[in-house]
Amino acid sequence: MEAQVQAVKEEALASVEGAGPGRIKELRTLYLGRKGKVAALFREFKDLPPDERREAGRSLNELKSFLDSLFEEAAKEKKVEEKDRVDVTLPGRRPLIGGMHPVTSTIREICEIFLGLGYSVVEGPEVELDYYNFEALNIPRDHPARDMQDTFYVSPNVVLRTHTSPMQVRVMEKTKPPVRVVCPGRVYRRDSDPTHSPMFHQVEGLYVDENVSFAELKGTLIAFLKEIFGENVGVRFRPSFFPFTEPSAEVDIECVMCRGAGCGLCKDTGWLEILGSGMVNPRVFEMVGYDTARYRGFAFGLGVERIAMLKLGIDNIRLFFENDLRFLAQF
Ligand code: DAH
Repeated sequence: MEAQVQAVKEEALASVEGAGPGRIKELRTLYLGRKGKVAALFREFKDLPPDERREAGRSLNELKSFLDSLFEEAAKEKKVEEKDRVDVTLPGRRPLIGGMHPVTSTIREICEIFLGLGYSVVEGPEVELDYYNFEALNIPRDHPARDMQDTFYVSPNVVLRTHTSPMQVRVMEKTKPPVRVVCPGRVYRRDSDPTHSPMFHQVEGLYVDENVSFAELKGTLIAFLKEIFGENVGVRFRPSFFPFTEPSAEVDIECVMCRGAGCGLCKDTGWLEILGSGMVNPRVFEMVGYDTARYRGFAFGLGVERIAMLKLGIDNIRLFFENDLRFLAQF
């Protein structure tokens, strides 16, 4: 009996070598099934003389549990092997590559153009003193001009800046003319609908020197808009009012959708308002101690999201701030 047990054991060991998962299952039945080799040995065991039974029983039971774990281990190994196998025909996994946010790339594009015109880029605080945001820009307390901008007040004298214009004052306080700067940054207003967000971005521009003229303001802004929207863009200057510029102008471009024919985007006017501008009001120069007889300047302020929306054909400003990769990955 012992010899038979040994023979079955060796045979089984040899048979699992290199067997696939299906074959291992078959082997299990072949050895341990109801009509298998071990069952056959147990049948022979019954006919053994009583003095041999004890020894033979022990070795049969050992064989049974040996085979049990042999097949179990072999099946497990197969599974692991299969999992670890490299399928060289699979396409590679591309790493996710980060990109620039469309608002950031628009700001960079705008600043790049003005850098090319000899401007430098400066940034300033988003939590701003009432003085810089309003007072020094000729917007006195209790003056109706304050209603132009719905403001978040932090305290009676501190606001979240409603525009980047306070940077005009901060720069002029620190520098003597000539001054040529653009100031990109976040601004805040109590305002929210598909085209207005409580937080958005502006770029402010300021140029001060002797003999700066309105013609230079026009030339600069037209050159800028052609860079941004293409050589053939139509541009018009419309008289307007801002407390910190006099005279003031709003600048429109021909509607990017209908090319001036009139559509929903331009509310049938054929034009899109794109920025505010004007000659720096002498009252502002007085606030920073500039000689109003000697210096003149022009300033402008534009909304970054507005420009990005027109360039990229986006109709809801909120898309910029939801951080949905399906949106952002398109740019
Ligand atoms: N600060 C204005 C706004 O946010 C935009 C503006 C208009 C800026 C005229 C200027 C300017 O520098 O000259 O509505």
